[in-house]
Amino acid sequence: MKTINIGLLGLGNIGTGSYKTLEMNRKVIEKNSGLDLQITRILERDVDRDRGIDVPMEKFTQNPDDIFKDPEISIVIELLGGIEPATSFMISAMENGKHVVTANKAAVAASFDKLMSTAEENGVQFKFEASVGGGIPILHPLTTVLRANDFSEIMGIVNGTTNYVLTQMTDHGFDYDSVLKTAQEKGFAEADPTADVEGIDVANKLSILMALSFDKYVPPTEIPTEGITKITPADIEAARVKGCKIKLVAYAKRDGDTIDYGVKPMELPLSHPLASVSDEFNAIFVVGNAVGELMFYGKGAGPLPTGSAVMGDVLEIAKSISK
Ligand code: HSE
Repeated sequence: MKTINIGLLGLGNIGTGSYKTLEMNRKVIEKNSGLDLQITRILERDVDRDRGIDVPMEKFTQNPDDIFKDPEISIVIELLGGIEPATSFMISAMENGKHVVTANKAAVAASFDKLMSTAEENGVQFKFEASVGGGIPILHPLTTVLRANDFSEIMGIVNGTTNYVLTQMTDHGFDYDSVLKTAQEKGFAEADPTADVEGIDVANKLSILMALSFDKYVPPTEIPTEGITKITPADIEAARVKGCKIKLVAYAKRDGDTIDYGVKPMELPLSHPLASVSDEFNAIFVVGNAVGELMFYGKGAGPLPTGSAVMGDVLEIAKSISK
């Protein structure tokens, strides 16, 4: 059986979820692909934390070049989060001939063109399915089996933390602070949840969705963005009286050469398909001129759903390079 060696940058929530996904499903992956995937080096300072996984000490390093310059490693998974040093590390990995997989929407959205061109110039693959919608396969379909469409609309709930908070406030009357704390404990939230609650994480994901479906890259800083921090129990109750739920929505609608886009809380009627998307679940509604309306639904946050998407990308690359 052919072995594919992998370097992992970051063993936080998502790194741990990705490691667990591989170990939990090792037999299935080996049976389906005929490949032995091995995470051989991990860039991580915190080597003592109990993560509920068994990681041999010799895998840890604090020197990224132990991964970038290792000729045995062909795929690098970047799960550090944040824009830097993650972006520079991904570029270095690609310049050293490594294929790169990431879940880092902030880094992908901030430097979309640079990361794509670096991959092309170095003849490596760059995949980021986990960066939008956690475990939901959305980017791969948009760029493969749906590519024959001209897309006119995207609308989605793409942040698990805020959807969890709004759902718990709406359905159970829980208060904002305690619900946000639970979302953090469940591993949904960013290290600094400001990006979640202010809508920045959603803007990052919308930037990526627009770049792939409309071939139009808009930096997330140029996307009109409003989060959920101003939503009060009174707003939720007022929406309920009107037969609506408040959801944090990302939208982009094309009309000719113009695209109207943004991120904001919206009152959605209970009959709207996105109104029934609860807790950490995400859903992305897409309209293509041939396929019509499509809806993608699943867990948009959390270590294992996101680990599923990360390892799916890794497996795709591993299969393609071992042919
Ligand atoms: N903090 C993000 C969320 C993680 O809550 O959706 C997944 O991108």
